[in-house]
Amino acid sequence: METAEIRRRWLSFFESRDHAVVPSAPLVHDDPNLLFVNAGMVPFKPYFLGQQTPPWPRATSVQKCVRTLDIEEVGRTTRHGTFFQMNGNFAFGDYFKEGAIQHAWDLVTGSQDDGFLGFDPDSIWVTVLEGDDEAADLWRRVAGLPQERIQRRGNVDNYWSMGVPGPGGPCSEIYVDRGPEHGPDGGPVVDEDRFLEIWNLVFMQDELSGVRSKTDFDIAGELPSKNIDTGMGLERVAYLLQGVDNIYEIDEVYPVIERAEQMSGRAYGEDHDTDVRFRVVGDHVRSGLMLMGDGVTPGNEGRGYVLRRLLRRAVRSMRLLGVHDASLPQLLPVSKDVMKSSYPELERDWSRISETAFGEEDAFRRTLASGTTILDTAVARAKQSGATRLGGAEAFQLHDTYGFPIDLTLEMASEQGLAVDEAGFRSLMTEQRQRAKADARTKKTGHADTSIYRTIADTLGRDVEFTGYSEMSGDGRVVGLLSDGRAVDRLGLRPHDAEHGTEVELVLGRTPFYAEAGGQLADRGTIRLAGGAVVEVTDVQKPMPGLIVHRGRLVDGEIAVGESATAEIDQLRRASVSRAHTATHIVHKVLRETLGDTATQAGSENAPGRLRFDFRSTRGLSPDELAAVEARINQRLMDDLQVSAAEMPLTEARELGAMALFGERYPDTVRVVSVGGPWSLELCGGTHALHSAQLSLVKILGEASIGSGIRRVEALVGADAYQHLARENVIVNQLTDTLKVRPDELHDRVALLVARLKDAEREIAQAKSRQALAAAAGLTEEARDVGGITLLAHDLGDGAADGLRALATDLRGRLGNERPVVVALTGSADGRPSVVVATNEVARGRGVRAGALVKVAAQTLGGGGGGKDDLAQGGGQDASQTGAALQRIEEELRA
Ligand code: ALA
Repeated sequence: METAEIRRRWLSFFESRDHAVVPSAPLVHDDPNLLFVNAGMVPFKPYFLGQQTPPWPRATSVQKCVRTLDIEEVGRTTRHGTFFQMNGNFAFGDYFKEGAIQHAWDLVTGSQDDGFLGFDPDSIWVTVLEGDDEAADLWRRVAGLPQERIQRRGNVDNYWSMGVPGPGGPCSEIYVDRGPEHGPDGGPVVDEDRFLEIWNLVFMQDELSGVRSKTDFDIAGELPSKNIDTGMGLERVAYLLQGVDNIYEIDEVYPVIERAEQMSGRAYGEDHDTDVRFRVVGDHVRSGLMLMGDGVTPGNEGRGYVLRRLLRRAVRSMRLLGVHDASLPQLLPVSKDVMKSSYPELERDWSRISETAFGEEDAFRRTLASGTTILDTAVARAKQSGATRLGGAEAFQLHDTYGFPIDLTLEMASEQGLAVDEAGFRSLMTEQRQRAKADARTKKTGHADTSIYRTIADTLGRDVEFTGYSEMSGDGRVVGLLSDGRAVDRLGLRPHDAEHGTEVELVLGRTPFYAEAGGQLADRGTIRLAGGAVVEVTDVQKPMPGLIVHRGRLVDGEIAVGESATAEIDQLRRASVSRAHTATHIVHKVLRETLGDTATQAGSENAPGRLRFDFRSTRGLSPDELAAVEARINQRLMDDLQVSAAEMPLTEARELGAMALFGERYPDTVRVVSVGGPWSLELCGGTHALHSAQLSLVKILGEASIGSGIRRVEALVGADAYQHLARENVIVNQLTDTLKVRPDELHDRVALLVARLKDAEREIAQAKSRQALAAAAGLTEEARDVGGITLLAHDLGDGAADGLRALATDLRGRLGNERPVVVALTGSADGRPSVVVATNEVARGRGVRAGALVKVAAQTLGGGGGGKDDLAQGGGQDASQTGAALQRIEEELRA
């Protein structure tokens, strides 16, 4: 039975039993305790805790989950998958143990012909928590299970919690006996390979306050109602029903392994190590696909790092299987094709997903190329010195300079039989992180730790009201005051700060100041307190959602919490930044018109008079395209498009086609900024011009790749664009003056001048070498007999490195072919010596080789070189040694 079919049966079974079918939540969920959704119940947590009223008494879902705690185990054991789907049914104060057991039994053992899963009732075993007689009785009564197939276990196995404070409760697990060939008899308490857990029924009844381990937790009390949370591992059931051996061999994973087999010419089943590699590929490619599908992009922290690690491990495993070409372009589409029937969005978002993945593989291949050599050298050095492990400093350098994640270093070192000093590595990492953190803290949020901001936010009890969309100044009350990272009630100008002012962070209940966000730089301006104090605001940040913090300098008077204040922003700066922001939207839209809708925003900065816009694209713009983009942008300015903003539900905004940043989380109500009605629609909290004509002019300064499939456009807007063009105009005028031509003739004239200059240089060089050749005739006089060979050795001195080869061959010709002849010339240019040796046929017949002679001479010059037997050239560092070098050649000939 196909995995997608099991999924369908699951949902329709519970739908027929009055459960609301709830679509899977994205893998990225806003629970600060979780990196990714890791159980079906995560989206329902507020209903269990009674924080929100559930819209339905019963629900069912097939939830995408990612667990990466056991990432190293993937493929080694056959039960670990990083991505999996959890089928769940949930009841909120509705049915409890009896209902859950009844549903489960019916679905598991009902016949396949009638739409159920069709497991043999005699193969089913269950476990219950020790002391849960009620559940044990129900299994006997409802399912008719014999006593011996109902086993009792302790908290470790049969009490379920999220591992963090939240809901929890006793559970009962359902196992399938795979038969004696898979292990000893005796039920799950004896062997969990033969008896495979497929379904966990959690009787969710407790609220946990502290969770220290699976057996050590505090129950704070009972939940407001008794609930059911269950989870069936879709992949496990699929492998049982598909008659294969493990989760990697099911229809949603195995095709990727098959493609990897074709690519590598290796066979799955060859041996354990090979199988592990194939399984890592099968598992990680799919997990990566699903994460990117939900908007995760590779990065160095948190979720992005998990994704990066998965993709890199997949690529590495392919290399270990002998595939050195890019792998993902072949593997990822296979995974997409098998997953898209359950997740059609993978097809819709394919260009974004694939570009992200392929860009990451390219970047990683470059990293591997440079880092592997470093690693190999470090390993060789460690082995030579008899060490059994690689130093922490080396591992850190690989990480810091070459982007080698530590786990990769560990893996690659262990392949060569070395351990790695991980503790040393980590302490260097910690040091670096602390340095970076200290930097970032000072920059973004002053010195305060976030708990202080939280206290201010809690005292205020609501979000700070931002009035700056419509007001440039306004009154508010001081609700928070920070000095040197500490909350204070009052703050006066300190005497020693008289000149520059005292640094302060200030929170008002309402403010027109825009805090840096969405790429738009913060407002600047002045806050005047009722008591006469004045604060010059230099930066505004949101250290947490809903809290706007002004940072600046108190230049006069004393501030007190509770005092009222008038805040006024620098209007010229704001207007200029707003124009840049509107320009960014226009640039974005025109780029999408040119490159297609995959050119999505990857970052931006809107500053006074200029903008920077980063976007995803696998190709750049030709100069003609860039010029056309700029022309189109400026045309849109002249069209005087109206710019407006409206708040609406997120779903409505998406229906309108508003562009949203991927991976960003948006609230239910969003602000949509439109330029020219439906022409450009973006989810955006920033400030804007009122009409596109206010931008006046946009001048693109350049477009270039900044790595990993991301490109950057920089542009000037308004007066800054005008000044840039005016300055260039001045330069053109100066040139036309000097060259005495019209502006449109400038290019041809300069090209002509450059060509003439080149000709002149060539002529000079030719004249020089003619001169040298003329002098050469005289040089033949210097030829002497050295051990039966005619040697002409001559140092041409400084400035004569260029024509050496031509001169040497010329002299060799002049000296004829009757006797063995060796010509050795040295010369130097800019203090760097060169040596050329030429031999004639007779000399070569005697075993004299030009390459060998150059080698010894070049050594004397502190360098190297070589070449053929008849003509060779070398160079070095020390021009004072040319005489000695010629001497060495002579000695060689005598020897
Ligand atoms: N929440 C339970 C689990 O994840 C069903 O196993």
